[in-house]
Amino acid sequence: MSRRDSTLREMGLGPVWRLRDQPAEVAAEAPNAGAALDGVSPRLTFSESANERAAAIATMGWDELGAAVAACRACALCEARKQAVLGVGDVEADWLFVGEGPGAEEDERGEPFVGQAGKLLDAMLAAIDLKRGDNVYIGNSVKCRPPGNRTPEPDETAACWPYLARQIALIRPKLIVALGRPAAQTLLQREVKISASRGQLFEHQGIPLVITYHPAYLLRNLPDKARAWEDLCFMRRTMKGL
Ligand code: URA
Repeated sequence: MSRRDSTLREMGLGPVWRLRDQPAEVAAEAPNAGAALDGVSPRLTFSESANERAAAIATMGWDELGAAVAACRACALCEARKQAVLGVGDVEADWLFVGEGPGAEEDERGEPFVGQAGKLLDAMLAAIDLKRGDNVYIGNSVKCRPPGNRTPEPDETAACWPYLARQIALIRPKLIVALGRPAAQTLLQREVKISASRGQLFEHQGIPLVITYHPAYLLRNLPDKARAWEDLCFMRRTMKGL
């Protein structure tokens, strides 16, 4: 199998071939026709398929979305996961916290932030009188555990993005809190440095967004907890002012 075919298969798109200038219906009827035609190079409609997938996800309700995430094979992360982790909490929450991706315990239990970092996140929430599930929704940039808890690759966050986009559209939070760099970069679609971005108000499609340290980072970098506390105060002030 060629690298292109195996990438497609991993993305859950399968080999989709369409001849240049051929009507879509004809191509759909003869998916492998290109291989039989000498001198006509078949064009892979990778981005069209990705767009169609994103468009379908953009119409889903919670049940359908949960089922799609549970069965997702759109990137290689599905290979090693025990289960996909959609998110948890109040689906009409004012607060949406977005992390990076499930770790081992989350993969095991199917809920985000239930390990050590999750305990710290719960404590951070409590510090500003918030509680998991109570006007708070917690999700991740990617729904499947990256092996060894590595940072998700750009193609993995891209493949998972339609799910998070749909969660945001369904929840319509008043404020989004990006926990750590990968979440901030996914939501803002650009390079982000946490130290330079914290304490500032951004927006994602008209929704105010703030950035703070990922709790797992704070567990390793205790002195930055004081800065995280400032960030919590900033997000609480921001929410009050909305
Ligand atoms: N770290 C994350 O970013 N998300 C989780 O769900 C757990 C740990």
